[in-house]
Amino acid sequence: MTLAKRSLVTIDDLSTGEIEGVFSLADEMLESTAKQSAVCRGKIMASLFFEPSTRTRLSFEAAMHRLGGSVISAVDIGVTSLAKGESIADMARVVGSYADIIVIRHPWEGAAKVVADYAGVPVVNAGDGGHQHPTQTLCDLYTIRKERGAIRGLKIALWGDLKYGRTIHSLIFALAKFGANILFYSSPGLEVPEHVIQKLIKEYGGELGKYQASDHTAKNNLFPLDAIYMTPDSPHQLAMVPDISFQVELKAGVDALYVTRPQKERFAADGEELKGKYPVVDEKVLKGKAFKKTLIMHPLPRVDELAYEVDADPRSMYFKQAAWGVPVRMALLALLLGSKKGSLSEEPDSSIHKIDYPAYEQDSGVRCPNPRCVSVQETEMRYIKPAFKIVDRVPLTLRCVYCEHGFEPEYVASSEWHHGGLENKKYHRADSHWTKEIKSENLIVFSSRSEAETRGFKPDHSVETGHSGKTGKEEK
Ligand code: NCD
Repeated sequence: MTLAKRSLVTIDDLSTGEIEGVFSLADEMLESTAKQSAVCRGKIMASLFFEPSTRTRLSFEAAMHRLGGSVISAVDIGVTSLAKGESIADMARVVGSYADIIVIRHPWEGAAKVVADYAGVPVVNAGDGGHQHPTQTLCDLYTIRKERGAIRGLKIALWGDLKYGRTIHSLIFALAKFGANILFYSSPGLEVPEHVIQKLIKEYGGELGKYQASDHTAKNNLFPLDAIYMTPDSPHQLAMVPDISFQVELKAGVDALYVTRPQKERFAADGEELKGKYPVVDEKVLKGKAFKKTLIMHPLPRVDELAYEVDADPRSMYFKQAAWGVPVRMALLALLLGSKKGSLSEEPDSSIHKIDYPAYEQDSGVRCPNPRCVSVQETEMRYIKPAFKIVDRVPLTLRCVYCEHGFEPEYVASSEWHHGGLENKKYHRADSHWTKEIKSENLIVFSSRSEAETRGFKPDHSVETGHSGKTGKEEK
């Protein structure tokens, strides 16, 4: 198996065997950095950073220089033709004709997928809005593996902004893939998005227990945990005795505490702000018994959530974590460029349920509800057709293929039943029994009644009476 010519857009693009292959090569790069200067000679990396970055951009560029390659860069949308109204797709095609690999950071969620779809060369997502940041996850896992030897069975606590932190979203799936347990401690109002949880349970197995944070602060004597994810291999079943398994899990201590800053740049424009005090990790918190041997991690930059006094603590890992960004990215670039083969396992991930969800690509008016999604932002350009996966039938749930947000549309119709004549062209509430009976390939989804009616559909009984109880809702 080879990674040559592949792109890394989400952490799902790499199996555990491939990630292990990247790590063995990263070990080699770390041990003999100076000997790698011919590995990518003659290759060009385009570094496109349209959001602030220090570590990710500079470690990618340092990695390419260490490999003997060259770097071309654009670090501000304002100085590229995107500012003149050029589409991301056109930019990707052009940059793909100048460079052998593209590393892109962009504020819109799903933008890296669009670049990968059009560039014709490998593309690495260096962070797309609040969606994912898979190479930070590689650095995080590499740190844990180096310090702890393995990842399976560990207990990793995620702290802070779990809603908008893209490093958190990629890390959750990676930890589940490697069989780790996850403790969620979010700042109130910044809990992990429901679509991330749904994907975690459905595709990675395991169990999730949600708690009233205040109940558990007293019990765990640690911090107000709001949820716990137990890997399918865990001997402690949450469903049977949630409180006992919770206590058992915590007794042995937390292996890593992953702290994040509030991602204020992504807070909604309509006045969303921190609800209460953002939790701070300091020496007092770390005195807890469960943190005795805990690795203190942070993707950086830190703001106020991690006290400077922790820097001198031998448990702090964040500067190492940042430094290892160079060997990890050297390994990744060398593999994607085909300059190194690496020892990548052929084995597919046994723990992941690969689900072939039916696609929803009807050209109806339904749009991704996420305002930061590239398919919403680039609508004017007309080349991005909204596309979704039908991830659930009851309740009907679509997942955007670009930003992966899930939502429950309110109204549906079938493209099959109205052939007989206009009087049969009816639309239904998505939570009525009709939805289950419509075949995926005939499904038409509407975001509103007016949209259905503009397209000539008439309300059926379920719409007129508002019958089947609950209304469809969008995930916020
Ligand atoms: C993170 C990012 O950009 O998402 N930083 C990084 O790449 N090391 C985390 C953050 O900005 O909080």
